[in-house]
Amino acid sequence: MDHPQRLLDVQDLRVRFETNDGEIRAVDGLSFRMRAGETLGIVGESGSGKSQTVLSMLGLLASNGRAEGRVDFRGTDLLSLTPSELNRIRGDAISIIFQDPMTSLNPYLRISKQMAEVLVLHKGMSEAEARRRAIEMLDAVKIPDAANRVDRYPHEFSGGMRQRVMIAMALLCQPALLIADEPTTALDVTVQAQIMHLMRELKADFDTSIILITHDLGVVAGLCDTVLVMYAGEMVEYGPVEEIFERPLHPYTQGLLESVPRLDRRGGTRLHSIPGNPPNLLHLPPGCPFQPRCERRLDRCAVEKPSLVEVGPDRLRACHLEVSHD
Ligand SMILES: Nc1ncnc2c1ncn2[C@@H]1O[C@H](COP(=O)(O)OP(=O)(O)O)[C@@H](O)[C@H]1O
Ligand SMILES: [Mg+2]
Repeated sequence: MDHPQRLLDVQDLRVRFETNDGEIRAVDGLSFRMRAGETLGIVGESGSGKSQTVLSMLGLLASNGRAEGRVDFRGTDLLSLTPSELNRIRGDAISIIFQDPMTSLNPYLRISKQMAEVLVLHKGMSEAEARRRAIEMLDAVKIPDAANRVDRYPHEFSGGMRQRVMIAMALLCQPALLIADEPTTALDVTVQAQIMHLMRELKADFDTSIILITHDLGVVAGLCDTVLVMYAGEMVEYGPVEEIFERPLHPYTQGLLESVPRLDRRGGTRLHSIPGNPPNLLHLPPGCPFQPRCERRLDRCAVEKPSLVEVGPDRLRACHLEVSHD
């Protein structure tokens, strides 16, 4: 027990897919750590490797995918576990929720039945105990009239309410780690704000560590402690959330921030998104993978790939530009 506070230690994670056009490196040498109780945001545009990072940790890659490296979760390397060992951890010590609640919910079963099954399987509860606990959890995620609604089917809930049911399912066994992969992307902004508010409350109540995956840096602001920015399968910046917002050190992070609507930037300033598209992983550009889109590109950027360097306490960045201290 060298680090009692350490929850997750990912070392040199690589995810590759075999395709007809060649090998795709969806995640290429990712390393990061999480403390117990921490909320980490993983941010990047679509296709940057966010989902494959967490799916690989849970043994959920597509059949043409392979993961290498080390994913130490409370002293166990998840990548070395058998499918049945991983099954035991999934939904118990680690839960994952997705953008579409119907990937986690069975449309043909009443919510009460689905929730009870999880508790009977992982916690050995009796049916009556499990039902009581299911109602408690629906209460905790603020589903009105939980005692009656627990017997409904998933389609009888609105999109936002279904997302709450899925969160309740994910928290049933009080996981040490909750992974939320774009949990609010499909919802309208009002419901999105309600769900993020709920997650903030649950984080405090349940003392769960969270990995929040999103393409929208704005979503991480109120919830995350630390932010990991991914581009083309690699980390390009990492740091405490306040620092990422106040002093982003990578032009990609700066671009992501400029595409976030902010209340303090009303009038005048227009939102702009980063020009161009993320690279094709089969044909990465030479040098820095971001350089073809970078407005501050130097000559060396097209020749030499910047390595990930510690630029402060808990602060990492992969970029050739000088760190500005203004
Ligand atoms: N089964 C697969 N076969 C080939 N490539 C895949 C497969 N699944 C995902 N990928 C590729 O891996 C890359 C990263 O995907 P993903 O982690 O899902 O991105 P995101 O950051 O949007 O979550 C994408 O370029 C995607 O096309
Ligand atoms: Mg994804």
